[in-house]
Amino acid sequence: MKVLVIGSGGREHALCWKLAQGASVDEVLCAPGNAGTSQVARNVDVSPDVHDAVRQLVREEHVGLVVIGPEVPLCRGLADDLREDDVAVFGPSAAGAELEGSKAFAKELMSQEGVPTAGYRVFDAVAAAKDYLEGEVAFPVVVKASGLAAGKGVLICPDREAATEAVEKIMEMHAFGASGETVVIEDFLSGEEVSVHALTDGRTILTLPTSQDHKRAFDDDQGPNTGGMGAISPSPRLDQRGVDRTEKDVILPTLHALTKGDRPFRGVLYAGLMVTRSGSKVLEFNVRFGDPETQVILPRLRCDLGELLLACAEGRLDAIGDDAFDWDPRAAVTVVIASGGYPGAFIRGHTIDGIDDAEAMEGVTVFHGGTALAGGRVVTAGGRVLTVTALGEDLRDARDRAYAAVGRIQFTDMHFRTDIGSRALGGSRAKA
Ligand code: AMP
Ligand code: GLY
Repeated sequence: MKVLVIGSGGREHALCWKLAQGASVDEVLCAPGNAGTSQVARNVDVSPDVHDAVRQLVREEHVGLVVIGPEVPLCRGLADDLREDDVAVFGPSAAGAELEGSKAFAKELMSQEGVPTAGYRVFDAVAAAKDYLEGEVAFPVVVKASGLAAGKGVLICPDREAATEAVEKIMEMHAFGASGETVVIEDFLSGEEVSVHALTDGRTILTLPTSQDHKRAFDDDQGPNTGGMGAISPSPRLDQRGVDRTEKDVILPTLHALTKGDRPFRGVLYAGLMVTRSGSKVLEFNVRFGDPETQVILPRLRCDLGELLLACAEGRLDAIGDDAFDWDPRAAVTVVIASGGYPGAFIRGHTIDGIDDAEAMEGVTVFHGGTALAGGRVVTAGGRVLTVTALGEDLRDARDRAYAAVGRIQFTDMHFRTDIGSRALGGSRAKA
């Protein structure tokens, strides 16, 4: 079958790379893709925003499965539009995607279903939000734009002044546009974050190995939140019992509530958890694969990804036997190399050197995020430029290999964290 992947980041490169390895897949197309996807797939210059153009591409190319990478096209109903043409689509309906597109909706659903999450209040008006902050509130609090904000609309506020400023920034100064028309103010949770991804056809779930993102821009979890600066898999913070409990207390009740509410969900449900002293609590839901978590999960997958995703899309995940689902027991670590300045402003167009040298190392794969081809050279074209993944015997080995590979790559003003995986490894760092 032909598979079309929608998107252009590191996650989509990893999806194309893994899909292309499967026996069920003859060809992978990627719209619009990047310089990396063009090595394993055929890039097609079609924008995910123009649904009619995507539908036409699917018809003309006889695509058998569409895999939608990012949240924006899902929230805009691309999966619904494609399903009108009877195409198999991996990705939820717009109604299902509201779980990520509206944090207010997600919190309401969790509170109705008894899914563990931080205490919260929702506000549609600045005055009411400020009144609330003037009352008996325990700080820190977390102020969140309810809508989509590329991982940047969450502000952790140590005191009343910071929280009031955050509300003004989101609701009055519209720092995240219409995404900030509603804010969620929630209790601050401390603990360790873990990502749990579950493939689903809406009824059956297949939980993937755990992973952990590193969201802040700088070492030691300093600086602003980003889309994610590196990841590890597995996470030592959630054992199999913790995963089982997450399935029972989080994933299944959430899917059940979506189904009951006529919000079809065939895709991947990603629960971002905080493992606290009083158990795991949901920080957020995403309705697609994490980026960069995908870049550590998929290299560990030993089966045909196309077959799995098609089974989700066609509602027959229960028929997939255990033998079709096999994992590499090795650990994986990925380090994001970003453009200097990210998540703020940055300059594009710098030539990238050393990718081939890095990939020549055993167990290393370099996934492209914000890259483009210019006159035969690979140049920077986005904030998160590359994710460098290494497999290793254990987390330490994987981490050391990933950083050795990062050391072979060079471009002007490149920035990466030097401590991906360090907390999980008790504070140790890779040798420079
Ligand atoms: P979200 O997009 O809601 O996952 O938030 C982005 C990041 O902000 C999370 O990955 C956490 O690092 C942090 N965060 C969100 N909510 C909370 C919370 N209630 N307590 C502490 N940190 C949080
Ligand atoms: N890595 C966090 C996310 O994909 O939302």
